[in-house]
Amino acid sequence: MTLTIGVDVGGTKVAGGVVDDTGRVLVQIRRDTPAEDVGKTRDVIIEVVTELAAGHRVDAVGIGAAGWIDATRSTVLFAPNLAWRDEPLRAYVSAAVGLPVIVENDGNVAAWAEFRYGAARHADDSMVMFTIGTGVGGGIVLGGELIRGAHGIAAELGHMLTVPDGHPCGCGRLGCIEQYASGNALVRFARAGARQEPQRATALLELAGGDAGSITGPMVTAAAQGGDPVSSEAFAQVGRWLGTSLADMAQILDPQVLVVGGGVIAAGDLLLGPTRRSFANALAQRERLPVAEIRPAELGNTAGVIGAADLARRI
Ligand code: BGC
Ligand code: NA
Ligand code: ZN
Repeated sequence: MTLTIGVDVGGTKVAGGVVDDTGRVLVQIRRDTPAEDVGKTRDVIIEVVTELAAGHRVDAVGIGAAGWIDATRSTVLFAPNLAWRDEPLRAYVSAAVGLPVIVENDGNVAAWAEFRYGAARHADDSMVMFTIGTGVGGGIVLGGELIRGAHGIAAELGHMLTVPDGHPCGCGRLGCIEQYASGNALVRFARAGARQEPQRATALLELAGGDAGSITGPMVTAAAQGGDPVSSEAFAQVGRWLGTSLADMAQILDPQVLVVGGGVIAAGDLLLGPTRRSFANALAQRERLPVAEIRPAELGNTAGVIGAADLARRI
């Protein structure tokens, strides 16, 4: 049995694990991401891999990173929500740990994990996944293969232009879906709602110590679960936007399964209910034509580790 290491580098956490060839995670460790400092982020990744490799005989390392990765799976070209600019992550990590390394987009690795072992494991051909976290990530599998595009940067689903001249995005443009269907968007909607109609956000404002500017994603989730109107509407707004993007994907690719993952899906039907309704409304001829169902991701925050490790096995 071959073992590989998967590392998932997000805006807040670096998670690493040793994974076997059935997708089972044998050990996992987590560290905070020193997000503003690329040198320190690199050191944390190397530390995590070194610690995992000391305990197990591993063959290779896969790293899922939140940005555009070049076609050779070596360099993070750009990251909208992290400090990486042309960061040769593969060379650094490989030299430090003495193992083969590949770097792949975080949305792509999560999608691959869900396709192999999670919500889309019954699909043998195709799936599209959106990850709803700080940003909006995406991954596309067609014909059983992860789609990387001509330059390695396919499936940047978060930067589909949704609202002309809309909210500024970390990628430098205005109006990307990431600014309407991410965890950050959820918080923005909830803060705006709490400022406009504080009497409909009493539970949410209580959690935030009375200050709309202190509202966080987990607070919106907790308040929405307790029935707070402004919080529930923030989820409904995110769901409405997300549903239209899922419909676009169904109409472009017609995959077997559509998967929604990322931290924000902890809210369950508060998000997925409005998402499914908006999806159905956005599909042309929805009563007549067959279409993929929308499923919640199943692997939670280990999807990145599992997917990155699985792709490393295929180097
Ligand atoms: C980045 C993607 C990433 C996603 C989720 C987006 O802003 O462009 O590369 O997959 O955030 O982290
Ligand atoms: Na992607
Ligand atoms: Zn963007």
